[in-house]
Amino acid sequence: LLGGAAAAGAGAVALTGSDALVRSLRSAAGEAPDADPVHGGRTHPFHGAHQAGIATPPQANARFIGVDLHEEVDADGVRRLLSLLSDDAARLTQGRAALADTEPELALAPAGLTVTLGFGPGLVERVDPEAVPAWLGPLPAFDTDRLEDRWSHGDLLLQVCCDDPVTLSHAARMLLKDVRAFGSVRWAQEGFRRSHGTEPAGTTMRNLMGQVDGTVNPEADEADFDPLVWCDTDGPGWLRGGTAMVLRRISMDLDGWDRLDRPGREDSVGRRLDNGAPLTGAEEHDEPDLDAVTPLGFPVIAEYAHIRRARSEDPDERIFRRAYNYESAVGGADGDDAGLLFVCYQRDPDRQFVPIQRRLDRLDLLNEWITHIGSAVFAIPPGCAEGGFVGETLFD
Ligand code: HEM
Repeated sequence: LLGGAAAAGAGAVALTGSDALVRSLRSAAGEAPDADPVHGGRTHPFHGAHQAGIATPPQANARFIGVDLHEEVDADGVRRLLSLLSDDAARLTQGRAALADTEPELALAPAGLTVTLGFGPGLVERVDPEAVPAWLGPLPAFDTDRLEDRWSHGDLLLQVCCDDPVTLSHAARMLLKDVRAFGSVRWAQEGFRRSHGTEPAGTTMRNLMGQVDGTVNPEADEADFDPLVWCDTDGPGWLRGGTAMVLRRISMDLDGWDRLDRPGREDSVGRRLDNGAPLTGAEEHDEPDLDAVTPLGFPVIAEYAHIRRARSEDPDERIFRRAYNYESAVGGADGDDAGLLFVCYQRDPDRQFVPIQRRLDRLDLLNEWITHIGSAVFAIPPGCAEGGFVGETLFD
């Protein structure tokens, strides 16, 4: 079926990459191709030095919820809210019902659920105005931005990720019940990747433009991950072991993209569509050769190619990307909008995300088909121990 669908969409293109994918999927199914492995019982620890949901291998589904706190909520209210949320998140992520769970059966298959809390400046200020990091607030304006308020900002972020959409829906609903007395939902954004088990674990995701997206990304078990991602002594003390999240809602003009031929698509990124290899290489993880030129003397990876523009000479100017596809229901009230929930984590967005985005804003052929329509920055506090709550360090 996969091969057929791919062949129908791609015309005369040789489908060597797709054949290899189908073969690897079949061999991953192993000796018993009809066996259906059940994976709803998998859990990620809630407690620990860092919050889960960042270094955690991305689950299939995600919901990002931005909350505005009611005006009257003070430091004490914030503390109560965070205690409630942490308590329920600790239960739900381990496959246990929330405290006042109205549908406790829905909690019993955690399916890799993680709940990650993030704070906007409006929340931190209420507890301690001195504790707001310099980077926590709206990002500088970029020329190509077309930001809408309905996808931007917020006092509190709930990031709920899960390999099962029913578990996710239930968890999000229980957490929002905790929030009700303290704030209201400003926006909610749904993201998705391939379902768990569709491809072997560790396969780089594809975005809705069909590109392999996430190849060059720090790995959680590599030495450079920690200093790029986790805040340390250089920021406010309460954020040590936490991180900074940038969420950009980036809309794609998929109909326009459809009109571009395959070489044009590959040229715009600097990588092949079949396996994500750089245009100067053969395999996905081959190092791109940015100096290579064609027989006519043009760079093989164009000056305007996304990967050339996104790459930095400065090794500290890197980010950890954990993006999700999004799509509003086709023909629905929100119109036909699809794209990427570009999510990245870093120690300091002003020194990491911003300079990269400045370069892309100035020149990146992909800008012909993508538009940033939402933007939010959150401080993600460190994790907590059993009996504690996420954000407690802000009250020290
Ligand atoms: C690389 C797509 C937005 C930063 C890539 C790659 C693709 C891609 C296909 C190559 C494979 C890989 O290494 O992941 C997109 C699309 C975007 C988008 C479709 C918007 C819808 C952004 C934004 C940023 C960014 C907003 C940061 C400001 C990067 C970085 C790399 C990359 C750092 C790795 C570059 C390297 O090779 O060193 N992107 N991207 N991308 N992108 Fe994007």
